[in-house]
Amino acid sequence: MKKVYIETYGCQMNVYDSEIVKSVLGKSGYEITDSETEADIVLLNTCSVRENANRKVYNRIHNIKHRQNGSEVMIGVLGCMATNFRKQLLENPRLPIDFIAGPDSYKRLPQLIADVSTNGTDSKNFDVTLSEFETYSDVYPTQGSGVNAWIAVMRGCDNFCTFCVVPYTRGRERSRAPENVVDEVKRLAEQGFRQVTLLGQNVNSYRYEGKDFAYLLEKISEVPGIERIRFTSPHPKDFPRNLLRVIAENPKVCKQIHLPLQAGNDRILEMMNRTYSQKEYLELVDEIRRLCPRMVLTTDIIVGFPTETEEEFEDTVKVMEQVEYDSAFIFKYSERPHTVAQRKFPDDVPEAVKTERIVRLNEIQKKHSYQKNLAHIGEIQEVLLEEESTKKSPDEFQGRNDGNKIVIVPRGEYHKGQFVQVRITGATPHVLRGEVVEVLGK
Ligand code: 5AD
Ligand code: SF4
Repeated sequence: MKKVYIETYGCQMNVYDSEIVKSVLGKSGYEITDSETEADIVLLNTCSVRENANRKVYNRIHNIKHRQNGSEVMIGVLGCMATNFRKQLLENPRLPIDFIAGPDSYKRLPQLIADVSTNGTDSKNFDVTLSEFETYSDVYPTQGSGVNAWIAVMRGCDNFCTFCVVPYTRGRERSRAPENVVDEVKRLAEQGFRQVTLLGQNVNSYRYEGKDFAYLLEKISEVPGIERIRFTSPHPKDFPRNLLRVIAENPKVCKQIHLPLQAGNDRILEMMNRTYSQKEYLELVDEIRRLCPRMVLTTDIIVGFPTETEEEFEDTVKVMEQVEYDSAFIFKYSERPHTVAQRKFPDDVPEAVKTERIVRLNEIQKKHSYQKNLAHIGEIQEVLLEEESTKKSPDEFQGRNDGNKIVIVPRGEYHKGQFVQVRITGATPHVLRGEVVEVLGK
């Protein structure tokens, strides 16, 4: 039996796809191993969202070949780099890879591997065709922890934000039938999962024959055994009122929304093709808070988009100060091949300026995260326990509250998948601490 090792970079969708790959290869008679050095086939499921993700993969390819000392290891590149850097990957004679497969070609992997075995690598084998239909709705990925299960409900993206490579690496938007998703959720609930996280590059633009994301959330919330529903990653443009209502009012839908801002200035937002203005974004935040004052809000921000001036950057600061996010991922703009921004706007903000801006925003965010977490002290919160012990301390148990914040409690006699009521007694910018006051029956 040939052994396959798979290493994953990038977003949660990629982590999910790696499980799809394991499932496909497992069915075709391959053994999945956790050890790279024991593997006959090493797969790198890659990301190309920012430059550093790319670089890591090139280094890894060389490293794997060296470590194996020239032994017969087969290397395959999967994921977003496979589609976006096909030419560079295939035409670089010094790159010791055997085949590449894009995000819509994983059912073809057994064939690609077989082709390499019979034909050798003189002509590199590849399949990076993007599909308008592939949703892997008939492949069940292996699931991890036994508490949360991931489900991709839609794939691809049609938004074409000018900085973003995803529409080119993952192709057009397509959604799974609601019945098919609900069937999978039922199966997961029967296996004991208490929480599902719905995944999609643009998850709230889910649409299948007139059924929208709000409909899907409601249908999933009717599945017995599932107590919590999360979703990632949404776009601010797809939050109609009926969806906000479901999120705010359905007790099973977690009270947390990731609302990627990207920039606070209207000229930059327009250049990014985000389709909302600062005012519209802030109105959405107000509406969310009117419907549900305790909603946890998180965001993504890019600093140093081409031509961004100091004054325009201040608009991003202003929005951050006004919204006070619970947490934020802040990135320096990184030019990506094939995107509109790369073709039309030179990457002209100096690196030192980008660094200055990211440092400033990270400081602001740290302050807000800490303030928000401190404000929870004294509250009683429902926590779903996830991990028996963290590496740092075997005396502790860790879970998450409804807002997706990590809550740490003394070890006790608990088990993962249990719901407990916790009195919050301490906070850092990153985690909450507390003591269990009640173990819930559900
Ligand atoms: N440069 C910097 N950050 C980017 N992101 C996406 N593309 C780029 C890029 N070219 C960020 C966005 C997005 C997150 C997943 O990654 O903030 O929301
Ligand atoms: Fe990276 Fe984006 Fe691809 Fe996810 S979809 S792996 S973040 S490039």
